[in-house]
Amino acid sequence: MKRIAVLTTGGDAPGMNPAIRSVVRYGINQKLEVLGVFRGWWGLINEELKVLNHRSVSGIIGQGGTILKTARCAEFRTQDGQRRAWETVQKNNIDGLVVIGGNGSFAAAHEFYQKFNLPCVGIAASIDNDVNGIDYTIGTDTAINTALDAIDKIRDTATSMERIFVVEVMGRDSGFIALTVALAGGCEDVIIPGKPMDLNAICHDIVHGNLVGKMSWIIILAEGAGKADNIARQITDMTGLETRTVVLGHVQRGGRPTAVSRDLALNLGKAAVDALLAGKTDIALGYGCGKITEVSFETAIMKKEIKIESLYNLIKTLT
Ligand code: F6P
Repeated sequence: MKRIAVLTTGGDAPGMNPAIRSVVRYGINQKLEVLGVFRGWWGLINEELKVLNHRSVSGIIGQGGTILKTARCAEFRTQDGQRRAWETVQKNNIDGLVVIGGNGSFAAAHEFYQKFNLPCVGIAASIDNDVNGIDYTIGTDTAINTALDAIDKIRDTATSMERIFVVEVMGRDSGFIALTVALAGGCEDVIIPGKPMDLNAICHDIVHGNLVGKMSWIIILAEGAGKADNIARQITDMTGLETRTVVLGHVQRGGRPTAVSRDLALNLGKAAVDALLAGKTDIALGYGCGKITEVSFETAIMKKEIKIESLYNLIKTLT
């Protein structure tokens, strides 16, 4: 193996930049030439790539986002898109590919590998932490801390003005951010995909709490489980109490990666290069059980189960 390429694809996650830095610098250290592909699969289809050197990745270790840009590329799901991407691979003598992204990116990489047999290794990066078989993805820790910082601030005003807040966090299919910040933020309730919402119970608790002097509430809502405005309106209708909303949105995707996200990224970048050099392919790398974990792309893209009930029960017990 002489020449590898690296790309970032899907939703960006804080820590993608240190992962790129690690792939480039460790790859060069291992006598490889490393190409950076721009805008994910789109860049492979349109031959938007260039050789990266030590200097290309200077100063990016603490930057959010990705210097390679990223995109969600519908064209790569077509036969024609994949064929054009393969032409770019052949024309540029690419012997292996490092794909930094989440489960959608791995589904695409798996298909590409199956069709063209190009060695592909994934690095799990997604704020949703929804890659199956992997405990922690790059970006999760940063996103959770960003959301938690906001929730702590909302708590100050909620307590002072004795208000109810519904705070919407990211997670279309996954309640991981919501459950984690609800617990860490001492929030009173959490609504997530995969667990039926019981607004009657939430409102009962609020009204009962009010009777014993508990006047402020923060309810965390994962975006995939409903709309904050809608739920706030229902709470007001059912309790007669004013309810405010905050939608944290894409702020959770940005910002300086935490030490946890950076260290994970730097370790996984090296591990991905080692995996390609060892002849491994069709796998995703992440963190689990205290070490770097390797799972097949097929496993990585399956639905990840999280222990909803035990976390939820702890949140309610500690309220
Ligand atoms: O990257 C994951 C994620 O942030 C999800 O939590 C969210 O639902 C989605 O991406 C938003 O994607 P986009 O930025 O493309 O709207």
